[in-house]
Amino acid sequence: MRVLVIGGGGREHALCWAIAASPLLTKLYCAPGNPGISAHATLVPIGQLDITALVDFAALEQIDLVVPGPEAPLVAGITDAMTAAGIACCGPSMAAAAMEGSKVFTKELADAAGIPTAKWERFDDAAAARDFITRRGAPLVVKADGLAAGKGVVVATTEAEALAAVRDFMETGTLGAAGATVVIEEMLEGEEISLFALCDGIDALPLGSAQDHKRAFDGDIGPNTGGMGAYSPAPVFTHAAETDAMDRIIRPALAEMARRGTPFRGILYAGLMLTSDGARLIEFNVRFGDPECQCLLLRLKSDLLAALVAACDGELAHFDLRWHDRSALAVVLAAKGYPTNPARHTPIGSLAAAEAMADVHVFQAGTEILNGALVSNGGRVLTVCATGPDLASARSTAYTAVAKIDWPDGFYRRDIGWRAL
Ligand code: AMP
Ligand code: GLY
Repeated sequence: MRVLVIGGGGREHALCWAIAASPLLTKLYCAPGNPGISAHATLVPIGQLDITALVDFAALEQIDLVVPGPEAPLVAGITDAMTAAGIACCGPSMAAAAMEGSKVFTKELADAAGIPTAKWERFDDAAAARDFITRRGAPLVVKADGLAAGKGVVVATTEAEALAAVRDFMETGTLGAAGATVVIEEMLEGEEISLFALCDGIDALPLGSAQDHKRAFDGDIGPNTGGMGAYSPAPVFTHAAETDAMDRIIRPALAEMARRGTPFRGILYAGLMLTSDGARLIEFNVRFGDPECQCLLLRLKSDLLAALVAACDGELAHFDLRWHDRSALAVVLAAKGYPTNPARHTPIGSLAAAEAMADVHVFQAGTEILNGALVSNGGRVLTVCATGPDLASARSTAYTAVAKIDWPDGFYRRDIGWRAL
C-alpha cells in the first residue's frame, strides 16, 4: 500500500513509525512531516490545510490510504475531498468532524444518544447567559462553542469568573466567531481520563486509555498547553470501566451519527470525568491526542495499517487488536517560553544517546535541520517515550532518557504520571 500521513507533530511521527512497520506498506509519505519523520517517510512540502494540493498529490502518487493526524484538516473537509477523488481517507467527514468543532453539537448529540454528560444550556445572548449564571450561582463551566485552541473553557468557581468569561467570549470577542455562542454547564468532579476508539461508522474497537497533563509546569500550574506528557493505560480506569464506557458512550454516539446519515469513521477520542456516578462525557475529539497517541501506539502489538484499512472498509466487526501488557509514558520537551513565545532555532544535542536506550522512543515535533544540525522550530519539540512492565518503570526509563538530551533552551515537567504514582 502507498500511504500518505498528514501533519508534522509528535503524533504524526508515531503514526509514521507504526505504519512503517506494517508488512502491507510499500511507500510512505508525510506532508509536511518533520526531520524525525524523514527516517520513516518521504516528506512532502505541502501544508496540512492545503487540501487541493494534498488531493492532487495523492492522486498523482496513487495513494491507497490517507491518514490525517490533526483535527484542522478534518474539520476543513479533507476526508470529503479525498473520497470525492476516489482516495480512501481514514478520518471523519466534515459533517462528522463537528463532534470536535462545536460544543453545542456534542452536547445535543449526547442528549439525543442518551450519553451521560453534564447538564447544560446554550446561549446566543450575553444578557440571558448572565441571568442564568446569577440564578444558578457558581461553580459553573462556561465554554465557547467553536474551536479555540484550549482557550475556550473556563471552569468558574465563582460567579464573577463565569460572568467575566461570558463578557470575554460573547462581548469582547476574544475568540472571534468561536465565542459568539456559549454552553454553560454543571461542573463535574472526579478524575479526568481519555478513552480512544477506532471506529468504522458502526463498530468500534477500544485503543486504550490515557491521562494527559495540560498545564505547562510541575504541580499542574501555569498556562494551558497542547499537553506536556501522558501515560497509558490510566490505572484508575479499569478494564470493566473501559468496556462500560465503550457501551454507554462510544457506541451510542456512533449509532446516533449513523442514524443522522453522517457516520463517524476514524479515531474517536472521548474526554471523560470519572465521577462518583460513573463516567461522564466531557468532550469528543475526532483524532488521536498528542502526546497520548505516542503512548498508545507503543503498546499496540497489531498492525496499525491493517486496522486503519479495516476501519475505512467498515470491517471492524471482524477485526481484533492485540496489545503489549506494558505501560507507556511520554514526557514532552518544549522550547522555553512555550506556549506564548517559544524560543526558536536553538540547538538540540545528544538525541542519539537517548534513542539508543532500550524501551525508549524519541518522537519529534517542532524540529528543523539548520546547517546540518537539529534545532527547535516550534513550541512542543520532542516527545520522549518509554515503556516498562509498569508505570513506575516506564517513568524512570523515560526520565533517564530525557536527562541524556542536551538542550539548554528546552524545559519539561518532572512530574508526569504523578496522579497514578
Ligand atoms: P473541553 O474543551 O470541553 O475538554 O474542556 C477543557 C477542560 O475543561 C477539560 O479537560 C476539563 O478539565 C475541564 N472541563 C470541561 N468541562 C467540565 C465540566 N463540566 N466539569 C469540570 N471540568 C470541566
Ligand atoms: N493532548 C490533548 C490533545 O491532543 O488534545
